Amino acid sequence: MKVYVTEDYKAMSRKAANILSAQMILKPNSVLGLATGSSPVGMYHQLIDWYKKGDLDFSEIKTVNLDEYVGLEPTHEQSYRHFMQENLFDHVNINPANTNVPDGLAADPQAECQWYNQVIRSMGGIDIQVLGIGHNGHIGFNEPGQAFEQETHVVDLTERTIQANARFFASADEVPRQAMTMGIKSIMMARKILLVISGEEKAEIVKQAFTGPITPLVPASILQLHPYVTLVGDKAALSKLMEK
Ligand code: F6R
Repeated sequence: MKVYVTEDYKAMSRKAANILSAQMILKPNSVLGLATGSSPVGMYHQLIDWYKKGDLDFSEIKTVNLDEYVGLEPTHEQSYRHFMQENLFDHVNINPANTNVPDGLAADPQAECQWYNQVIRSMGGIDIQVLGIGHNGHIGFNEPGQAFEQETHVVDLTERTIQANARFFASADEVPRQAMTMGIKSIMMARKILLVISGEEKAEIVKQAFTGPITPLVPASILQLHPYVTLVGDKAALSKLMEK
């Protein structure tokens, strides 16, 4: 595992964007696994900057996102499809047909998950998967206690995740109760993992995930077994990991 400690969020975003850019330059038709949330936003904005300067080309890039809420239309302000359009896709020369996010309005979410697994396979798998980490160690919407062996599937959100996400909705009642998420197995099948982490409030879970036992109780701990993980975090987020 490679660890990059940066001064702050901005430097973290730049370093992570450098790593994704290197991937895109070395393999212009890369399959990028993408995440939403606050951690990768700065990285996406940095990629947009470099694209606008003429240093990056998305024309052959394919993307596959980690997750989506069940029940939200793609244009809903809180849908992950909308997040990706706003924070990356609408600003670069990516072919919309090459961007994949599970369809929150799919009539049969289980069937949508099966289809999504096929999409990932048909693209030849994920070259690099971007991840953030939740306070409870979740990656994607894989909450503590779930089996490690799953590919994309439907999950019930925990009360803690609903409360944590309530800030983005008018009230906690409006937060969807279910999501579709790549499973731990899908994530582990990606050839490379890029985990971006910022802020002191993540310091304890990062230490547990990377120095504690590998357990479904801390879903990110499985990454200890992945052969190619790059962790990019600001010094606040990595403070406890570095003490070890
Ligand atoms: C996002 C996702 C989540 C987030 C995690 C961290 O697609 O699947 O697992 O990566 O909740 O979120 P932030 O970055 O907002 O702290």
